Amino acid sequence: MKYIFPEDFLWGAATASYQVEGAYDTDGRIPSVWDTFSKTPGNVYKGHTGDIACDHYNRYKEDVALLKKLGIKAYRFSIAWTRIFTDGKYTLNEKGINFYKNLVKELKENGIKPVATLFHWDLPQILQDEGGWANRKTAEYFVHYASVMFNALGEDVCQWITFNEPAVYAYVGNLYGTHAPGIKNLEITQKTIHNMMLAHGETVKLYKNSQFRGQIGITLNLSPNYTDSSNEEDIKAAKISEGIWNKMFLDPVLKGKYPEIILNMDFGKNMKNIIKSGDMETINQKIDFLGINYYSRNVIKWNENNPLKYDTVPQNNEKTAMGWEVYPDGLRVLLKSIKKDYGDIPLYITENGAAYEDTPENGEIHDKKRTEFLKNHFIAAKKAIDEGVNLKGYYVWSFMDNYEWAEGYAKRFGIVYVDYETLQRTVKDSAKWYAEVIKNNFTEE
Ligand code: FCB
Repeated sequence: MKYIFPEDFLWGAATASYQVEGAYDTDGRIPSVWDTFSKTPGNVYKGHTGDIACDHYNRYKEDVALLKKLGIKAYRFSIAWTRIFTDGKYTLNEKGINFYKNLVKELKENGIKPVATLFHWDLPQILQDEGGWANRKTAEYFVHYASVMFNALGEDVCQWITFNEPAVYAYVGNLYGTHAPGIKNLEITQKTIHNMMLAHGETVKLYKNSQFRGQIGITLNLSPNYTDSSNEEDIKAAKISEGIWNKMFLDPVLKGKYPEIILNMDFGKNMKNIIKSGDMETINQKIDFLGINYYSRNVIKWNENNPLKYDTVPQNNEKTAMGWEVYPDGLRVLLKSIKKDYGDIPLYITENGAAYEDTPENGEIHDKKRTEFLKNHFIAAKKAIDEGVNLKGYYVWSFMDNYEWAEGYAKRFGIVYVDYETLQRTVKDSAKWYAEVIKNNFTEE
């Protein structure tokens, strides 16, 4: 059976600055929280850092040529704030800005749409030293940084993403401490959430008042929350998980409030002391699209002894190399629930993909499982479209293997293989398959 996509469907591929660029001390780049975190022993698998990564900073022309060869229509990259200012705040670093001007020019010349994320977790360390996202001033610096990038690239970048996965940055970085900046503190987490939301709203407002006519939105990591039973407590537990991970970000952006269920728990009750008058209106700006990163679902059950009152139930189904359950129908369910709860806002899958162990064989990578994974998720997305969801595009995570945060280089998500010794790129079978999907605009079961 053929699953045919809408004519103007935007097929893309995504990366992020710290994960691919390398060139960590080139042309005036200053350290980010990820440089500090990765260089602190014990934080990242085998002490891997993004110092060199895929060397995309020096090889972007080769990479853009590869994107073109595969027929990829849009490239989602992120801008390293650490390249834009020498002090993280106001002193411009022209060389850093030029890198992104050159990248965007190269993409345009090759007919690929540039889609830029402003914050994909690499906060300048110098700002972390002043409290990071828990400091309200960081939101001001961010808005200024955004204005610099709008002026530099605004004529050519057709879509802007203010933040990538603020939930992961807030919780994994500031509550669990297993990502940069490596903090474990609830109040810092709450302030981090609110100041990122505030920066998002201010930035959207600024862009809408500018002369630029591209689109602006935000990318959230969203998972649907299931229960194994129809037991009332389990259902409540699933609502808490949904509140913490999804609605804590969806609701302020799209409804101008934080979810009551969280504000009423110990976990969220301090939020009222952080929010200042007018903040929620500022956050609640009309966005042009919502970006969704989908990797898996959660299955939740009640646990009285857990401070959050819920546990995640491990599943026996097939898993990726990350240990994440493969659950394509969760994407369809999620997309439909967004439409039901938040209306008909245009949606993009800004990340979806899978890590598997890849073994090159005579210069080829037969990554059948990755192809299967993508195919089944594309089909789930198409079913959601048929069921009325306004899904406009799909970015595979990732264009190439890269630095997978705390997992270092051990986990490969790319449709292009990167040999970290030689930095040579090799197109995997999944990329060849994806090129066909793009060309045909359909996928087949
Ligand atoms: C997401 C991140 C992205 C990548 C994937 C696997 O949470 O946005 O950078 O690491 O997970």
